[in-house]
Amino acid sequence: MEYIKVHEKYFQSYLSENSIRKRVVELGEKITTDFQGKELFVVGVLNGAFIFLADLCREISIPIEISFIGISSYEGIESKGVIERTVALNANLKGKNVLIVEDIVDTGSSMNHLISEILSYQPAHIFTASLLFKPDAFRFNYTLDYVGFEIPNKFVLGYGLDYNGLGRNLPSIYQLKIS
Ligand code: IMP
Ligand code: MG
Repeated sequence: MEYIKVHEKYFQSYLSENSIRKRVVELGEKITTDFQGKELFVVGVLNGAFIFLADLCREISIPIEISFIGISSYEGIESKGVIERTVALNANLKGKNVLIVEDIVDTGSSMNHLISEILSYQPAHIFTASLLFKPDAFRFNYTLDYVGFEIPNKFVLGYGLDYNGLGRNLPSIYQLKIS
């Protein structure tokens, strides 16, 4: 088992580059099929979703527009519950099919906040995608349209996800080693 140390914590390998890649290809194909002949505006959520979105959008073969919104809700390994806007969305979403792309849905509060904020832009429809989903931590009722992996309620990092700022550049996903 491969362990890495980030700040003071140890993490173990959880999802390989290969398994992430395969799943991202499947999601891209599914989105391509579902939106065939339609228009799609993809909104990536910074910072965490930047790698997932970069890989996912290259597996979608219909024309798409892409923009970003930035929010922050986490400190250390706990969701703060307070969501801060870090980057404003600069896009006209009126009447469009919007796909919100997140790295992970944990308690669900960030995505919930994003859905209501994006609704104010009067899109035709909002769809949601998240590479990772922690069903045991989820506290809302909305459903996610595209989920890469359902994972246990343990802190993860890599492939865009950080622990206090570090780990986003790891090409695969690691899980906190309970010590
Ligand atoms: P939620 O609002 O509780 O659903 O948390 C969602 C946000 O918190 C995500 O967009 C991530 O940026 C961050 N987050 C949640 N769980 C993890 C994790 O296990 N590792 C790293 N970041 C996480
Ligand atoms: Mg995020």
